[in-house]
Amino acid sequence: MSTTTTYDGLADEAVAQIDAASDLDALEALRPALLGKKAPVTLAKRELGSLEPDERRTAGQAINTARQAIETAFETRHNELASSARAVALEAERLDLTEFQRSSPAGHLHLITQARDRLEDVFVGMGYTVAEGPEVETAWYNFEALNIPEWHPARGSFDTIFVNLGEPEEVMLRSHTSPVQIRTMENQEPPIYIIAPGRTFRTDTADATHLPAFNQIEGLVVDKGITLGDLAGTIDEFVRTFFGAEVKSRLRPSYFPFTEPSAEFDISLPDGSWLELGGCGMVHPNVLRNCGIDPDVWQGFAFGFGIDRLAVMRYQLDDIRELVNNDVRFLRQF
Ligand code: FA5
Repeated sequence: MSTTTTYDGLADEAVAQIDAASDLDALEALRPALLGKKAPVTLAKRELGSLEPDERRTAGQAINTARQAIETAFETRHNELASSARAVALEAERLDLTEFQRSSPAGHLHLITQARDRLEDVFVGMGYTVAEGPEVETAWYNFEALNIPEWHPARGSFDTIFVNLGEPEEVMLRSHTSPVQIRTMENQEPPIYIIAPGRTFRTDTADATHLPAFNQIEGLVVDKGITLGDLAGTIDEFVRTFFGAEVKSRLRPSYFPFTEPSAEFDISLPDGSWLELGGCGMVHPNVLRNCGIDPDVWQGFAFGFGIDRLAVMRYQLDDIRELVNNDVRFLRQF
């Protein structure tokens, strides 16, 4: 009986050491001393031979129980330490997918680009295609083919910046988008229904309504049986789609060398006054002939207006120069 008690005490001491092991290495280091050849439970078993048979059975069971208690304690502590080691490793290697990222602020298209895109949408919706031409032009496209010979006083109202290339006053920054009419008619058989938005340049001094570099959109239709009524109807339809049904348009007689008859077209403002948006007219027979088109078979109309002025109207700006100051605090409002 006294032997059994001793063995029970042995197990308790071993289990206490096992429970105190702080990590897996420390735990494994205990194994030889507690379960190895020289461990008390092993030595005790060897001593069994010297006991009486009755005592031997009781003592043998006590030793086995003690050994089992030590083995179970090892296993339990091993599982505890292994799982906390795994938790530490997982925490150290954790990929934090919840990290807060500041979103980068999204800007928006410039007012002129917005106006231009919308103009294109309106005319494409009416069956037009979009044409383009270069910003640097020759005198033929900017003036001569448009029925503005060298001596013509209208060259003054389309004065621009000349580029030092070839003959004097031969190459220039285009002063309107009308050269795209010529380029299109030279390259395309009628019927023609195009618009041509783009940058234009003049020697104008910047003020509340003028910029030296601005944007125009040209329109050109060449087909059979086209009349001034078609031009008026097209402008009316465009103005209503772009500005809303309450805005009216009117044509006012004017003069352009490349159209006959010619007109300025105005739109109505809320206060009852009118604002000039651009010029238009029936394509002059000389212009059609310059492009190899027979004016007895084909007729056409053309128009051209300022996109910047249109943006000023649409966004109710006080000064056209706001469009090019490029102050983001101002542009951000639209
Ligand atoms: C022309 O440029 C003609 N090519 C328009 C045309 C096309 C007539 C086809 C007939 C047939 P005008 O010089 O009036 O016309 O200019 C047209 C529009 O461009 C003006 O009504 C105005 O809206 C805009 N514009 C002209 N100069 C400036 C400027 N310096 N700054 C801003 N907008 C301008």
